[in-house]
Amino acid sequence: MSNNPSKGGPERSSRREFLRKSATAVAGAAVVGNLGIARNAHAQGSDQIKIALIGCGGRGTGAAINALSNKATPNVKLVAMADAFKDRVDRCLAAVKERCKDRVDVPEDRQFIDLDCHQKAIDCGVDMVLLCTPPGFRPMQFEAAVKAGKHVFMEKPLAVDGPGVRRIMAANEEAKKKGLLVAVGHHLRHETKHSETIQRIHDGAIGKLEYLRAYFDTGAIWVRPRKPDQTEMQYQVRNWYHFNWVCGDHIVEQHVHDLDVCNWMMKDAHPIEANGMGGRQVCKTKDHGEIFDHHAVEFTYADGVKMFSQCRQIPGCWNSFSEHAHGTKGYASIQGHGSSVLQVEGQEPMRWHRGPDGHQVEHDDLLAALLAGKPYNEADWAAASTMTAILGRMATYSGKVVTWDQGLNSELDLSPASYTWDAAPPVKPDKDGYYACAIPGVTKAW
Ligand SMILES: NC(=O)c1ccc[n+]([C@@H]2O[C@H](COP(=O)([O-])OP(=O)(O)OC[C@H]3O[C@@H](n4cnc5c(N)ncnc54)[C@H](O)[C@@H]3O)[C@@H](O)[C@H]2O)c1
Repeated sequence: MSNNPSKGGPERSSRREFLRKSATAVAGAAVVGNLGIARNAHAQGSDQIKIALIGCGGRGTGAAINALSNKATPNVKLVAMADAFKDRVDRCLAAVKERCKDRVDVPEDRQFIDLDCHQKAIDCGVDMVLLCTPPGFRPMQFEAAVKAGKHVFMEKPLAVDGPGVRRIMAANEEAKKKGLLVAVGHHLRHETKHSETIQRIHDGAIGKLEYLRAYFDTGAIWVRPRKPDQTEMQYQVRNWYHFNWVCGDHIVEQHVHDLDVCNWMMKDAHPIEANGMGGRQVCKTKDHGEIFDHHAVEFTYADGVKMFSQCRQIPGCWNSFSEHAHGTKGYASIQGHGSSVLQVEGQEPMRWHRGPDGHQVEHDDLLAALLAGKPYNEADWAAASTMTAILGRMATYSGKVVTWDQGLNSELDLSPASYTWDAAPPVKPDKDGYYACAIPGVTKAW
């Protein structure tokens, strides 16, 4: 197997295989979906779409409001909520009611609290679930939703390790067979500045792509300090961002947005290998758990195109949330929160403003497809983007070149043996309360 980042090597075949499976499955979905979706949406003799929210934190609250405010239909109701902690449900319910009062009907007996609350919410007669928990729980919760025949909106990223990505891919095949709609919270895919710019890149406006750049450089993320009465599992789930079995590190949690855009620029190809470096320089208190505070990765696509990526969560530094493509005839730059520009050599630059918020448009699009009985599935490319980010973490943690095949087929499973509050999480603090983090050159990262 080639370890030379500049060459495609035998890993090319794995990319073809990944895409072939996706394409075949989408074609299948088009056949099954038209029947399955229409039947499902009207199954109970009612046009009302009943929704359960699983994971009632910041994004869950936003996603519920977006779903209830969708442009396609007013006939949608939030009927169940589930979270690991009661205070999160209480706060979220109040916020969603304030914005969408008439579309909320969540009595106490449809509020579910615990680490395995998702199943009860899935089982209480809903048509669609919003999975907005941390990504370590996504494979388990997506599998449960698909098994029960529910349409799904799920937040990015989709998993935190190779086994998790494989579980998502397998469950997504089942979702397609059942005609279920599956949306993923990559809101940039639904923003004008991205779609207009990337369509022109695909049309060849800037020539053959030579290299890409991606940034998610921001200040420090929150910490949720330990409380005296918490079990270790309660502490880690509450302070989830800083533990890889729940979060995957910020290269997976946040930077996946930009890595997804780069894969999209490459017509939904994914890198075949990665090498990189990273560490923790500033954010390294006990509550910062085990994640790095910076990563820089060089990804290589099968045709030799490079993608240079960096993400940092350190206060007081240069910040950027953006993606850039450089081709033989020009370049394109897209700001995550701003506008985009595409410059063809010798011509006036073209510019696009953000347009409507992608967080809202993604729900408008999903519910419009559901009502129209059209297939809708975003999980194939989203699984590849999640795997791209995990591949980057494997490279920075190990300090070695890692191939797509090695990453995707990895047996390194970060999940805990059981999901109960008194169970032992996969990582434990040392006698002083600190957690070990990866050491490049030593750590086995896949
Ligand atoms: N697309 C976007 O722009 C965007 C923005 C923010 C967050 N997100 C994504 O949304 C997800 C949640 O992030 P957030 O910022 O809302 O975090 P958050 O901490 O505010 O919310 C997560 C919620 O999930 C709950 N939870 C944890 N484990 C659970 C379990 N097993 N079952 C049920 N509930 C559980 C937590 O108690 C918490 O209330 C992440 O995957 C994140 O990447 C996406």
